[in-house]
Amino acid sequence: MQFSAFGHKFTRNSGILQLMDDLGKALHSDRPVNMLGGGNPARLEAVNRVYREVLQDLVHNEAAVESIGNYSTPQGDARFIDTLAAFFRHEYGWDIGPENIALTNGSQNAFFYLFNLFGGRFGSGEDAVDKNILLPLAPEYIGYADAHVEGCHFTAVRPAIEAVEHEGEAGFFKYRVDFDALAQLPELKAGRIGAICCSRPTNPTGNVLTDAEMAQLDALAQAHGIPLIIDNAYGMPFPNIIYSPATLTWHDNIILCFSLSKIGLPGVRTGIVVAAPEVVNAIGALNAIVNLAPTRFGAAVATPLLADGRLKILADEVVQPFYRQQAKRAVQLLKQELAGYPMHIHKPEGAIFLWVWFEGLPVSSQTLYERLKAAGTLVIPGEHFFIGLDTADYPHASECIRISIAQDDTTLQNGIAAIGAAVRAAYDAAR
Ligand SMILES: Cc1ncc(COP(=O)(O)O)c(C=O)c1O
Repeated sequence: MQFSAFGHKFTRNSGILQLMDDLGKALHSDRPVNMLGGGNPARLEAVNRVYREVLQDLVHNEAAVESIGNYSTPQGDARFIDTLAAFFRHEYGWDIGPENIALTNGSQNAFFYLFNLFGGRFGSGEDAVDKNILLPLAPEYIGYADAHVEGCHFTAVRPAIEAVEHEGEAGFFKYRVDFDALAQLPELKAGRIGAICCSRPTNPTGNVLTDAEMAQLDALAQAHGIPLIIDNAYGMPFPNIIYSPATLTWHDNIILCFSLSKIGLPGVRTGIVVAAPEVVNAIGALNAIVNLAPTRFGAAVATPLLADGRLKILADEVVQPFYRQQAKRAVQLLKQELAGYPMHIHKPEGAIFLWVWFEGLPVSSQTLYERLKAAGTLVIPGEHFFIGLDTADYPHASECIRISIAQDDTTLQNGIAAIGAAVRAAYDAAR
């Protein structure tokens, strides 16, 4: 059977396919696997209990049954959209209405749309120009990498690396946006950037771009007449896995993407896009072609929880403290395992991962990943996250790994012990 160019692009061995494959196999494996690789959120009993209650309520709720028995409009479930608009107006004082919100089947679906709306070929004939999505702070979320229907349209900028303390301890670093390098970017100067995008908190690093950095990116986007896409999958108000002071801003040049996944509902595949009506209409049009309409089940579950405040309470009182504690524990275990080795941990400021840099690692992080996988521990090698960057002369990209901290303590302990053994062996063999 022969596939089209589209078929070839979307069926080759992408980073995201490897990640989702490993995750699926680990969950169904007979052999115990220390799963520190995936993006699955933790299963927290206090959260599950609330979802069970809501599911039971839905059975007796005619309106909910009625809603999941019909397609929504391509924009998404109207009741959920109205509830979201009221929530954002009340919570943040934004001047928004239903015309500013579209739903998608997970936020991954939204990024596919947005990156193809703002990246790729613009115009035709002699006027045609290819525009890229600018990722101002590499490394970035692996799931962006292969999203373009044709070609790869990302430009990224290496981070500035700053040694920082975390809770009074050394051994940490923080990535900062290199605005001088951004200002010099030929694509930006030539009008060949279609949008700027960042995840905040960032997957894979747990970085939270500061308010000052966000304000500068916002100004840069406005100065170039392009939107700023903010991926808020881990941010406030849900799941609110964020520990650094940060403000959430929206206006109609910002496209803000939310997800129900990391608050514990990845299976309902619900993404929320808050944007100018023009963008919302474009997403509705794409939904109609790709999905007819987005799923309503996540909307049915989340509407009552958002309306009565339970979603926010779960985020603030259960989900956020859990990950904060997990980050602390993982840092402690890593520091025990690798004391005396040149390991630096990205300051944990949010999300569900730790990003660990083994400076001067004698093997690539891909090799480290393969050795760990053979020994029954899954992590994600760092090089996949430097989307839009040529990493051939950038050793830092292959000296880092991403570790999920969403697992139980035994998995965390065993997995980090395996990482410790493999990393020590790699350094010791090169001595
Ligand atoms: C930063 C980031 N953005 C978007 C997504 C997509 O999530 P979903 O499609 O489940 O909303 C993920 C999932 O891991 C993520 O980490």
